[in-house]
Amino acid sequence: MTPQTVALLGAGVVGSQVARLVLEQRDDLSARVGAPLDLVGIAVRRLDADRGFDVDPALLTTDASALIRERRPDIVVEVMGGIEPARTLILEAFENGAGVVTANKALLAEDGAALYAAAARNGSDLYYEASVAGAIPLLRPLRESLVGDRVQRVLGIVNGTTNYILTRMDESGAAFDDALAEAQALGYAEADPTADVEGYDAAAKAAIIAGLAFHSSVTLADVHREGITGVTPSDVAAARESGHVVKLLAIAERSLDGRGINVRVHPAMVPRTHPLAGVREAYNAVFVESDAAGQLMFYGRGAGGAPTASAVVGDIVAVARNRISGGHGPRESSYEALPVLPLGASTTRYYLAIDVADKAGVLEKVAHAFAEHGVSIETMRQDGHGDDATLQIVTHSAGEAHLADTVETLRGLDVVRAVASVMRVVGE
Ligand SMILES: NC(=O)c1ccc[n+]([C@@H]2O[C@H](COP(=O)([O-])OP(=O)(O)OC[C@H]3O[C@@H](n4cnc5c(N)ncnc54)[C@H](OP(=O)(O)O)[C@@H]3O)[C@@H](O)[C@H]2O)c1
Repeated sequence: MTPQTVALLGAGVVGSQVARLVLEQRDDLSARVGAPLDLVGIAVRRLDADRGFDVDPALLTTDASALIRERRPDIVVEVMGGIEPARTLILEAFENGAGVVTANKALLAEDGAALYAAAARNGSDLYYEASVAGAIPLLRPLRESLVGDRVQRVLGIVNGTTNYILTRMDESGAAFDDALAEAQALGYAEADPTADVEGYDAAAKAAIIAGLAFHSSVTLADVHREGITGVTPSDVAAARESGHVVKLLAIAERSLDGRGINVRVHPAMVPRTHPLAGVREAYNAVFVESDAAGQLMFYGRGAGGAPTASAVVGDIVAVARNRISGGHGPRESSYEALPVLPLGASTTRYYLAIDVADKAGVLEKVAHAFAEHGVSIETMRQDGHGDDATLQIVTHSAGEAHLADTVETLRGLDVVRAVASVMRVVGE
């Protein structure tokens, strides 16, 4: 059989492990593909950097574009990251008729539609399993296994850094800054943790998940995003006391009337009985709710060189098999074309901790503030007495806008000293 040739763009955390697996497991992978699988070049920035394994220097080049143009590989694997030159190189690969595998969530969330269109135009494949939740098979199950079902909601813990930090805050009572420093010391968080702790990384993944789950076109700009820097030890303690745990969730769901989708990333209290509550430390998990299948959970390592390389190499084999059989894998479909609704249109339950004054009529005034904005109270509990009293309230499902108005009214009440904590409750 004619060999399937592979060019690797990037040999960093992920790419070096992809190269190692492809070289070390060449015989097995070739047998699975049904033709020799040959790594023909690796583009990097620094030719002399240590790649952590023996790599033939003749494979290395700093000119990624020439590697694609001159070697004309069958499969181009983009694991360099960033928007440019990754986008231009992927488009060049398609122009040359190559199939493309990428782990680049940032690029897919910004410009996925253009890349899918280029793949279709050139009759090629674009596979990107590693871009969301690292090693966890999730995108192919959404795109292929669940294509006969109707997905209603996807809830994901898709960022290991923030899940590690929130786990430490929950289990040791640490403050955010201390938990972040610990995550950095262990290599779970970058020196500049902004992309993780502010939710950008999770938002890019939420966009990719939502597009696949709801056959619609969703970009990063459509995703409402809140990070975890504002989560306090008292939020975490309140969650614990009320039988919840705080998680940073990527949420994509059909609106109640089915005419749009809500896509958002924010911290939320998850009941301790929910399967996502048990996802600790840097692990990822994605919980899918669909009409026929019911509830499914995908769990595993969401990052790291070898786990992510597992997903990338799986995609390489899939693309190689498609090429040998003379076809291509399933295309992205955005036929439902559902609009992404503004945050104000989404509904959820809320937890509020309200520090109240030691005055007569407190409960009545607080309850009235909720009623005034049409937010109904599910449970109310008072902790402490006198000037130490705190009301813990969980609402029934309410609109974001109504809840915001309620909080505003509460803050203006003479019996309210502070609205100490407001958090969404997700995952009933
Ligand atoms: N790290 C993870 O756990 C993880 C998980 C899921 C997805 N991803 C995604 O995988 C991709 C790669 O991540 P990573 O962590 O492996 O990144 P990384 O460690 O920074 O590696 C990037 C690699 O690309 C090379 N590179 C960068 N710009 C280049 C250019 N213009 N020409 C040639 N080579 C260039 C670098 O070369 P030098 O080595 O010579 O500097 C390096 O080898 C990103 O899209 C990321 O979002 C990563």
